[in-house]
Amino acid sequence: MIDLHCHVLPGIDDGAKTMDESLSLIQAAIDDGITRIICTPHIQPGIYDNTLASITDVFSQLKEQVTHHSLNIELAFAAEVRLCPEIMVLAKQNKLPFIGLWQEQQVLLLELPHSHVPAGTEQLINWLKKNGIIAMIAHPERNRDILADFSKFKQLARTGCLFQITAASVCGDFGEKIQQLSYKLLLDDLVSIIATDAHSIKRRPPKLSQAKAKVAELVGLEKAHQLVYEIPKLISESKFSAFT
Ligand SMILES: [Fe+2]
Repeated sequence: MIDLHCHVLPGIDDGAKTMDESLSLIQAAIDDGITRIICTPHIQPGIYDNTLASITDVFSQLKEQVTHHSLNIELAFAAEVRLCPEIMVLAKQNKLPFIGLWQEQQVLLLELPHSHVPAGTEQLINWLKKNGIIAMIAHPERNRDILADFSKFKQLARTGCLFQITAASVCGDFGEKIQQLSYKLLLDDLVSIIATDAHSIKRRPPKLSQAKAKVAELVGLEKAHQLVYEIPKLISESKFSAFT
């Protein structure tokens, strides 16, 4: 399986705090059957002031340790970028980290606030599209506006963006309401990929295999395999074809 959303880089967001925690998280992912991870720390101006340069630096340190400990995993990095006006500046400066390519467009893992869908979200997604960037909305099933009013999801879907749901949501770890919305999205074929959004072994460990089993029960094994392997592989392939 392939995980395109994971907070495994040490000490730069609310994910793994130390290199030891990062390595434990990667070992847990390997034990779960994950063979490739895109590390996606938060970029949120004023809260997580990560940049392409700072992420590159920490990623190199992690990669060195992963090699040193002979952990069998493919690694690359991008970011989970919070919806903010700065995105347009970063896009123009070519400073946005992307999780890969989809239909020749760069894929931006875009995080909305958990509380609501801000006014202007669709306009930003459309602006990105005009600039060759397709937004993949992270965990829409955990957004309170969408949970309360499904038309908010449909409005986003009309832009043609992609959607990532969280393995733990499918497994019921965020409660029944979020699990039921995850099921609805899966049954209506509105999910692009499933990812762990893992933060730590204790807080949110990688459990993609358990989610895959649930999805297979719901919509069949072939679809489950697409969501945790085939589509994430297609998207992330460009991160591994030129440089490894
Ligand atoms: Fe995340």
